[in-house]
Amino acid sequence: MAKIAVFASGNGSNFEAIASKLQGTLHRIEFLLCNKRGARVIERAKKFGIPVYTVDYRKAEREKVEEEIIGLVEKHRIDLIVLAGWMKILTPHFTERYRKRILNIHPALLPKYPGTNAIERSYRAGDMELGITIHFVDSGVDTGPIILQKSFQRNGKETLTEVEEHIHRMEHLYYPEVVKKLLDDIGDSNE
Ligand code: GAR
Repeated sequence: MAKIAVFASGNGSNFEAIASKLQGTLHRIEFLLCNKRGARVIERAKKFGIPVYTVDYRKAEREKVEEEIIGLVEKHRIDLIVLAGWMKILTPHFTERYRKRILNIHPALLPKYPGTNAIERSYRAGDMELGITIHFVDSGVDTGPIILQKSFQRNGKETLTEVEEHIHRMEHLYYPEVVKKLLDDIGDSNE
């Protein structure tokens, strides 16, 4: 058995895909952390009965907010932190503390298009090979060790929306699989 915390800022479709995948296993999402009031991901967590914590980066300095987050991660004895559309940069203090214990998904073939709006930027650049990257988080922006990349070829006629849908379908398939596999490994070593 292993426990994760998911950090998400918005829609939460990846959160939901992971929550569904872990249902009926020994692993569990111990809590959702969200930095946006009213984000759709909060509703999704409630549907699964998963506790939600919110933090407000506008009210305190980043370091203070991170101390609050570390408090939660420690209190709940979290094995793995899973970023799923988490749009806040984590400081090196945080990422070093949880080295190889923070996972992220990025909707592009890193090292290309780190940062925000990656799908749109890769689409508009005319790249014919697009894809997703699942990686451990280090102190850089989208630079940590890569665990899995999956790509596809486009024919050039797709709309941006179609490309986005394709990428999200890939995310929902592969991210839960990678999370589950890592949790199985952690679960084995916890026993
Ligand atoms: C996903 O496409 C994820 O790859 C991206 O945000 C989206 C969240 O969707 N993350 C980043 O761009 C991180 N740099 P969701 O809220 O529906 O899971």
